[in-house]
Amino acid sequence: MAALRSSTIRLLASRPSVTATRPMMAAFACANDSASAFSSPSHSMRRSMATVSDVPAEQAPRNKTFKIYRWSPDSPSEKPRMDTFTLDLNKTGPMMLDALIRIKNEQDPTLTFRRSCREGICGSCAMNINGVNTLACLCRIPTDNTETKIYPLPHTYVVKDLVPDLTLLYKQYKSIKPYLQRDTPAPDGLEFRQSKEDRKKLDGLYECILCFCCSTSCPSYWWNSEEYLGPAVLLQSFRWLADSRDEKKAERKQAFENSMSLYRCHTILNCTRTCPKGLNPGRAIAEIKKEMSF
Ligand code: SF4
Ligand code: SF4
Ligand code: FES
Repeated sequence: MAALRSSTIRLLASRPSVTATRPMMAAFACANDSASAFSSPSHSMRRSMATVSDVPAEQAPRNKTFKIYRWSPDSPSEKPRMDTFTLDLNKTGPMMLDALIRIKNEQDPTLTFRRSCREGICGSCAMNINGVNTLACLCRIPTDNTETKIYPLPHTYVVKDLVPDLTLLYKQYKSIKPYLQRDTPAPDGLEFRQSKEDRKKLDGLYECILCFCCSTSCPSYWWNSEEYLGPAVLLQSFRWLADSRDEKKAERKQAFENSMSLYRCHTILNCTRTCPKGLNPGRAIAEIKKEMSF
């Protein structure tokens, strides 16, 4: 999370003014649609695992083609395009993030994407790979002969290339007050303790890394993103509703007493299908609805 926040801050601080001329990613194949710090060349060069150097000379190349979405705010009148790159998989690390880093290091230093941890923890490298919203660092490069297509997260404004603008999603996240709220002081004046059973209720919720693969795969969120909170923010909201230490459940529930912020979920479950962390935002939304009925 820290990495995601800092990378986002860096991104927002360094990007040129984002205007209405930015392209918005269209929806891809709905069933399984599938973000990161600008990756500076000098920073990327420090990562050596993306390129495999000890390949025997006699080994036949295993070339793989990648088609990557490109758009730059420096040329706002130019339409987005798909650029083609080819890599020898013998010399490339196994994951999609390895391929992107190699392309940036060796072929086009202007290719822009976010990434930080490269182990599915920061949520930065979320993008749409072959029609699926996922994390590039957890997604293996398909070894078949087909082209692999890489787009930014769908239905987001594009900051540059594979970097989506997450401003609205963070605004919505802030709106649910994603922190412990209570008036009663801790009994020992130090810690707010929780039983093991109560702590267990947070499993499957606290692991969310806010990559927003789920929200950007949700048709309801595509069409109502200004008002509907979407699966990622709702899962986070339930994480605080389910926390035995929080004393503002009534206020949290009150915020859902309208037709849009929660009830736009129609249980399509794209969110659960696409979550690269194996979480179940669809179920968290159903649990909130259950709590609202009592
Ligand atoms: S279950 Fe709800 S939140 Fe998840 S994809 Fe469907 S409509 Fe969106
Ligand atoms: S629920 Fe899964 S897909 Fe959605 S933001 Fe959290 S980790 Fe990402
Ligand atoms: S680089 Fe952190 S989740 Fe992929």
